[in-house]
Amino acid sequence: MLRVVVCVSGGGTNLQALIDSIDAGSVTNAEIAGVISNNPGAYALERAKKHGIAGVCVSPKSYDNREQFYEALLDTVEGFAPDLIVLAGFLVTIPKQMIAGYKNRIINIHPSLIPSFCGVGYYGLKVHEKALERGVKITGATVHFVDEGTDTGPILLQKAVEVLPEDDAKTLQRRVMEQAEWLILPKAVHAIANGLVDVTDGRVLVRE
Ligand code: GAR
Repeated sequence: MLRVVVCVSGGGTNLQALIDSIDAGSVTNAEIAGVISNNPGAYALERAKKHGIAGVCVSPKSYDNREQFYEALLDTVEGFAPDLIVLAGFLVTIPKQMIAGYKNRIINIHPSLIPSFCGVGYYGLKVHEKALERGVKITGATVHFVDEGTDTGPILLQKAVEVLPEDDAKTLQRRVMEQAEWLILPKAVHAIANGLVDVTDGRVLVRE
């Protein structure tokens, strides 16, 4: 059984999609060992609680400096002894030590088709605002492994979503979640949990 830790900052709809997919049996061989939030008010923590999943807040505000926060974050992650760390709307830069210690064992969901609309400053609603500003007709979501860069790691899965003329950032965000994120994040976890993922030279093969 793959032990999964999910890191969150906000609403936790991707966490919910993963919980529901495990409950429904479309994700097998995986269990959520814990949820970690940097934000004490994150609704994602409520979602964890409702499902009897351990939820912990590690807030940077509780520490004197970044190093201490990172140390606490790493300790908390390690306390769950995870096989896989899922960044599901986690808006904190991951400590280098964690990236090195969990190579190809950290995945992130990003709300665009990488390499479009990604990198430093592209998160949450901002991604969709930029996509609308640029006038793209197709956007989507990406699940990728996390490396030292921002949104630069090997890509596992992507799914395209249509942009409609009447969209604003919120309607587009919702459609990208419904039609892409909530499908490909659980699918990626299922694939990893069932040994269906191979990484060679930075390219990922996901078998069905
Ligand atoms: C999701 O759209 C996720 O793709 C995005 O934050 C949202 C979190 O929603 N992540 C990023 O932008 C990371 N760069 P959720 O808390 O409802 O899952």
